[in-house]
Amino acid sequence: MKSLGYLEIRELFLKHLEEKGHTIIPSSSLVPEDNPSVLFVNAGMFPLIPYLLGEPHPGGVRLANSQRCLRTIDIEEVGDATHCTTFEMLGNWSINDYFKEEALRITLSFFVDKLGFDINKISSSVFKGNEDAPKDTESIEIWKKLFSERGIKAQVGERIRELPKEDNWWEPEGGGPCGPDSETFYEIDGNLVEIGNDVFMQYLKKDNTYSPLGKHNVDFGGGLDRLAMICQEVPSVYETDIYLPILKKVQELSKEHIVRSHRIIVDHIKASAWIIADGVVPGRTQREYILRRLIRRAIRHGRSLGIENLFTRQVAEIVINQFSAVHPLLESNRESILNILEDEEKKFNQTLGNGLKEFEKTFRNIKEFKNENGETFRLYETYGFPLEITLEELTSRGIDYDEELVKKNHEKAYEEHQEKSRTASKGLFKGGMADTSEISTRYHTATHLLLASLYNIVGPHIYQKGSNITTERLRLDFPNDEKLTDKQIEQVEDMVNEQIQKSLPVIFKEMDKEEAMKIVKYAAFEDKYGDIVKVYTIGSPDSPFSQEICGGPHVENTKDLGHFKIVKQENVGAGIKRIKAVLE
Ligand code: SER
Repeated sequence: MKSLGYLEIRELFLKHLEEKGHTIIPSSSLVPEDNPSVLFVNAGMFPLIPYLLGEPHPGGVRLANSQRCLRTIDIEEVGDATHCTTFEMLGNWSINDYFKEEALRITLSFFVDKLGFDINKISSSVFKGNEDAPKDTESIEIWKKLFSERGIKAQVGERIRELPKEDNWWEPEGGGPCGPDSETFYEIDGNLVEIGNDVFMQYLKKDNTYSPLGKHNVDFGGGLDRLAMICQEVPSVYETDIYLPILKKVQELSKEHIVRSHRIIVDHIKASAWIIADGVVPGRTQREYILRRLIRRAIRHGRSLGIENLFTRQVAEIVINQFSAVHPLLESNRESILNILEDEEKKFNQTLGNGLKEFEKTFRNIKEFKNENGETFRLYETYGFPLEITLEELTSRGIDYDEELVKKNHEKAYEEHQEKSRTASKGLFKGGMADTSEISTRYHTATHLLLASLYNIVGPHIYQKGSNITTERLRLDFPNDEKLTDKQIEQVEDMVNEQIQKSLPVIFKEMDKEEAMKIVKYAAFEDKYGDIVKVYTIGSPDSPFSQEICGGPHVENTKDLGHFKIVKQENVGAGIKRIKAVLE
């Protein structure tokens, strides 16, 4: 086995795919840009959904990248050897081009020929079939052939396992392009570790039913951190060169040695820095709340480790140094990342004080405690009081409790809460499905008009720092030290509405990124675009009102937008202002 650094592994992957005719595309933001159906991009395929459904991609029909991903579902799992909330997923896609044989050949060749994995330790799994789709016998035959070409006689039931839908079917949360998949495994000390997944997308899941997609796409994904763990022969992802410098810093700051807490801090501060770099600030709802939860969880574990001073800044400095080369947004947002983390840390220290007051109220005059109303969970969820600390406090106050019963009721309250959040996120997805609809398309175009108007009225320092669209409103973050005056707001609204009334055409043209950069005035996040980009022009091409690089979709004429109104302006810290606006 070659000991490869994670940057080398990523490079080898992208080169391997380039050799096989793939265009390397940049990682998208962690915050889904045109699709609010999930809070964060959780798989490499997510930003590519429109193309997997049929829209032509400027990069062609063979694409590959390393996409930063975040899986909120794994937050509670963090602390073991392999789970992380944020990670990079190596991915390659065939958009109605090659299919199973070439896909699996590319995958196996990457692991064996490029990373030097031992073919004897590799095995695979395929879909065994159900009422929606037949058994994937084709992949079984392909695997037999690929193994046999490398001198191995592979048998079904041994090296090739047939597994049910739970294991070998992949679809994005809530539906979309999907199909049976084939996973590749590597054996480490008797355990099989999944190292990659080829999804064969031939179906479309919509309203809980499957229909043929009319295309044969391939979606491969493999976690870079797991590959690094295997290549570097270390027992956990935290000891790979991805995380080691951060882990060492956390260990150095800690008084106690609790492996799980060290890992949680490493993971959560890294995830927080990545999220902030993509334009999110801590808050009370949705992705802002997830960011807050990650930061607070890290701080609580900091306390368990005996870290008394503010520490998130010091850890985040290492995170930024560590990943800036591949995620330049970390470096360009260095100060805001550090300040936002520290502010949140100070606020949370204050909250912990309030939590203690709540604790006093809850347990005053109590002799025996059963946790019948899930009080410990409320202290945890609202005030960030870990159950363990609550139990210690109870003991020190001489309150009787049956630990098992208290824990059971805590668990029950937690599950009720999870059920509520699941229901909430289902609702969110339903809302998101309307996104491809007309209304959010209108908001997309309105955002371009707003940005151009801000640029004209407030000044040339304006660019899009972040944007979010729902079917209810648009939201735009932009750099400006002062809040806009009432007069400026009025001027901006008037300018947008004027363009709407002028019935301006909206057209796009594909061009080289370099050519595009010469035309557009406020291109932010330059590094996220591929080599060929779409430039949307609003107004006459000779003297356009707005020109922006954007993936779309947009309305064809501004007359379809209705009346534009700014409903809110907020300060989101570090010289960034936020505007929310509606179309009436
Ligand atoms: N989308 C699949 C996954 O996340 C393969 O990339 O596993």
